[in-house]
Amino acid sequence: MVYNRAGRRSAEEVMRVEFMEVVRQRRSVRKYRPDPVPQAKLDHMLEAARLAPSWANGQCWTFVVVTDVRVKNALAEAGNEWIEQAPVVIAACADPRKSGEKGDQHYYLLDIGIAMEHLVLAAAEQGLGTCWIGWFSEQKARKALGVPKKIRVVALTPVGYPEEELEARPRKSLGEIVRRDRWA
Ligand SMILES: Cc1cc2nc3c(=O)[nH]c(=O)nc-3n(C[C@H](O)[C@H](O)[C@H](O)COP(=O)(O)O)c2cc1C
Repeated sequence: MVYNRAGRRSAEEVMRVEFMEVVRQRRSVRKYRPDPVPQAKLDHMLEAARLAPSWANGQCWTFVVVTDVRVKNALAEAGNEWIEQAPVVIAACADPRKSGEKGDQHYYLLDIGIAMEHLVLAAAEQGLGTCWIGWFSEQKARKALGVPKKIRVVALTPVGYPEEELEARPRKSLGEIVRRDRWA
């Protein structure tokens, strides 16, 4: 552990430890308490998303923060009924024209993935639960949110205080997912 002259851990050490703790304790939360989420906590999450890298810095994203019960219920009907118990749902939307593509790879999906994960980790850092939602009817979500046709609704996440404590889900070992120098 690295201490500075005042006997405290250096900013670098604090950041390193806290980052991995946040990564380790994040869970996909599917049961929420009804307690409202303070605006300052939502702002902190959105700021983390704002700072994400993106293709040519295009920042193709718009985040729709939903607290209106009618809109939230309409979003829940797009595929995941249980998200309606969360006090907030955030929809991550992309304008693909503001990102790029290489052959059949559409980078707006990556841009949103990175920004959304920043947001999710900033939620975990503050004791809030989230759950990536990719399985939903985009058509219904677009209608619920009033999103124009050229904009894609890529992912949703409920946000709120977890109702339950969850065990970490299993992950493959590094040995299974890392290869040195070449695939084979
Ligand atoms: C791109 C993406 C889409 C996902 N879509 C859904 C979904 O539609 N519904 C759901 O309940 N969970 C969804 N999940 C959550 C995963 O099931 C979850 O991350 C995985 O089981 C590992 O659990 P953990 O997040 O608690 O570690 C999604 C996760 C990702 C990254």
